[in-house]
Amino acid sequence: MRRPYLIAGNWKMNQGPAQTEAFFGAFSAPSHPEVEALLCVPFVSLQQALAKAGACRIGAQNLHFEENGAYTGEISASMLQEMGVTHVIVGHSERRQYFGETDAIVLRKVKKALEHGLTPILCVGEVLAERKAGAQERVVGAQVDAVFGALSAAERMATVIAYEPVWAIGTGETATPEQAQAMHAFIRSRVPAEVRILYGGSMNAANAEALLSQPDVDGGLIGGASLKPDTFRSIVDTAIRLR
Ligand code: PGA
Repeated sequence: MRRPYLIAGNWKMNQGPAQTEAFFGAFSAPSHPEVEALLCVPFVSLQQALAKAGACRIGAQNLHFEENGAYTGEISASMLQEMGVTHVIVGHSERRQYFGETDAIVLRKVKKALEHGLTPILCVGEVLAERKAGAQERVVGAQVDAVFGALSAAERMATVIAYEPVWAIGTGETATPEQAQAMHAFIRSRVPAEVRILYGGSMNAANAEALLSQPDVDGGLIGGASLKPDTFRSIVDTAIRLR
């Protein structure tokens, strides 16, 4: 099955409105039927990004699981929808680690995003100690099941998964293409064939081709290498070359 590639950038807490304007002054996403480009930018940069995005989709990095109300500092799915955002990252390992997000919270956020027509990018991945103990499949399987097990068939089809081994995030250490493929095939066995599974963790212009060539790697969730227009564009171009 040929799933369109999704090349997604995750800017994290980088690039405010002025830097976002500058980025999009130097970046344009090609329009391609089988390669989608997406940039998930800070909330305060969404407006600038959306105004200049062209063929690039724009996403957020988080949302709250309630519809609205007394949740100081939070952003709702309907606010994102109103702005024109199409995707939202949910359950990134940094949110799980630093903000106490559990699988139960992640599930509520995924459901709220879907309710508002946003595509959730559900992040899963094991930490180094779990990989060293050979527990990566148990850990990742449980994270996937905790969310997918509670979704309807239609909701599953509308969700994207990102496998991000925590030991590879921002460390410069990537999973080998074989390690990535093995985990992606394991996740694939638990989700519908149409669901895209992105790899994340130190993906860059040099290693993108080897990772994206794997049969079950349907794109990337790219942190550091998405901050520069040329580097991000070169990963998008790699995906186009592979199609
Ligand atoms: P990285 O981040 O590409 O900088 O490792 C990926 C991510 O955390 O989504």
